[in-house]
Amino acid sequence: MPWSRTEPHPLLVQWAQRTGQTGAGRTAVVIGCALGADAEFVAGLGFTTTAFDVSPTAIQLARERHPRTAVRCVTVDLLHVPAAWQRAFDLVVEIITLQALPPELHPRAASAVRELVAGSGTLLVIGALPDESAVSPPWALTRAEIEGLASGGLDTVAVETMAMPVNQQNRAGELNTIAAEVSQQSSPSAVQPGRNPRTPIRLCRDRIRAIV
Ligand SMILES: C[S@@+](CC[C@H](N)C(=O)[O-])C[C@H]1O[C@@H](n2cnc3c(N)ncnc32)[C@H](O)[C@@H]1O
Repeated sequence: MPWSRTEPHPLLVQWAQRTGQTGAGRTAVVIGCALGADAEFVAGLGFTTTAFDVSPTAIQLARERHPRTAVRCVTVDLLHVPAAWQRAFDLVVEIITLQALPPELHPRAASAVRELVAGSGTLLVIGALPDESAVSPPWALTRAEIEGLASGGLDTVAVETMAMPVNQQNRAGELNTIAAEVSQQSSPSAVQPGRNPRTPIRLCRDRIRAIV
């Protein structure tokens, strides 16, 4: 199975540590959670965590893998989320799910992702940077698509492109990874280069931080 990480995504861990995430009294959702490693990590930060995947098999395996989990793990299609989830989550984590969808569905899926974010909430997007001419998923997520996530009251805080540290590469598609943080925070975060950025830091616009 290609998406069977047993550990949380290293960039999720890195981001949570860097930004000092604590979830007490806050809600989180992990989109396309697969076997649940990221959701377990987020729940471990104290968030009341929901995780969902369109694949019933993935959800069943996630439940089997984490039998005593505090995570609410459900089979849901991102394109048809329950109405009660609209703007319901203080933290939304999206890791390579948009990219699993055909590019023509990206606008609709991106809108669905955005609509999960509560007022003052944060959306963290981590994606792979596959060859632009890829003929199978993950499809490329363009910078315009990433920055397009910041609308409807959401501002981009940071877009970073970084190479995964060699000992943390767990599949070829993640050799180069992009992480975007979109939120309604009122002040920009400090610019921090990734561990192995390929090119210099670029500030895109007010309240957008980018390492490209
Ligand atoms: C490329 S995998 C990434 C899984 C996990 N986020 C990770 O980083 O290992 C994409 C995941 O998104 C799920 N997925 C695809 N389309 C989906 C949709 N419409 N709604 C919810 N999940 C979806 C797939 O079943 C799969 O588990």
